Amino acid sequence: MSEFSYLDQMQEKDLPWVLALEQRSYDFPWSLQGFENSLEQGLNYLFYSAQGDKLGYCCLLPVLDEVQILNVCVAPEYQKKGVAKKALKSLLAKLQESVYQIVLLEVRCSNTPAIKLYQSLGFRQNGLRKDYYRAHCWDNSQQCLIENKEDAILMVLSL
Ligand SMILES: CC(C)(COP(=O)(O)OP(=O)(O)OC[C@H]1O[C@@H](n2cnc3c(N)ncnc32)[C@H](O)[C@@H]1OP(=O)(O)O)[C@@H](O)C(=O)NCCC(=O)NCCS
Repeated sequence: MSEFSYLDQMQEKDLPWVLALEQRSYDFPWSLQGFENSLEQGLNYLFYSAQGDKLGYCCLLPVLDEVQILNVCVAPEYQKKGVAKKALKSLLAKLQESVYQIVLLEVRCSNTPAIKLYQSLGFRQNGLRKDYYRAHCWDNSQQCLIENKEDAILMVLSL
């Protein structure tokens, strides 16, 4: 079974698995250094099945009573089975029991699955950051991959 069952803290020993999933999930993946920094400064969790299989991960940065969600990822073979929604619900419940009041995040305008996921958890759009992300797109002749920019949608949830 590949259903989400529980969250556990991400550790240094998990980074090879996390980095491999990151690299197959994003055009502009975080580096190993990025995850090491996040382990030092942030709240980082892995999503597990009841059998202990790793299904995905998330990286959060707490600042006073706010938490920023910096990264959420589910392995492609476990996507669209409710893993991210259940894992984030469980995470939000944990945050609610703690000192945190607000959860913020940025998401690419083109990332419909993620936007729908966050909306389904109660996040609402709270602004737009123009040209925030690097992006790839094909030139007019469809022969050449060129660098472009993409806007970020800011989303917020009050706990
Ligand atoms: C975004 C992501 C984390 C969603 O994980 P997931 O476990 O597949 O999501 P869930 O199955 O829990 O879906 C929850 C809701 O999200 C939305 N959703 C998820 N995948 C979707 C898709 N491919 N298309 C449209 N909506 C989608 C739906 O609203 C869904 O609710 P529903 O099933 O009741 O309709 C996953 O697609 C992923 O890892 N993508 C690559 C990394 C990424 O882009 N992360 C987000 C960075 S901000």
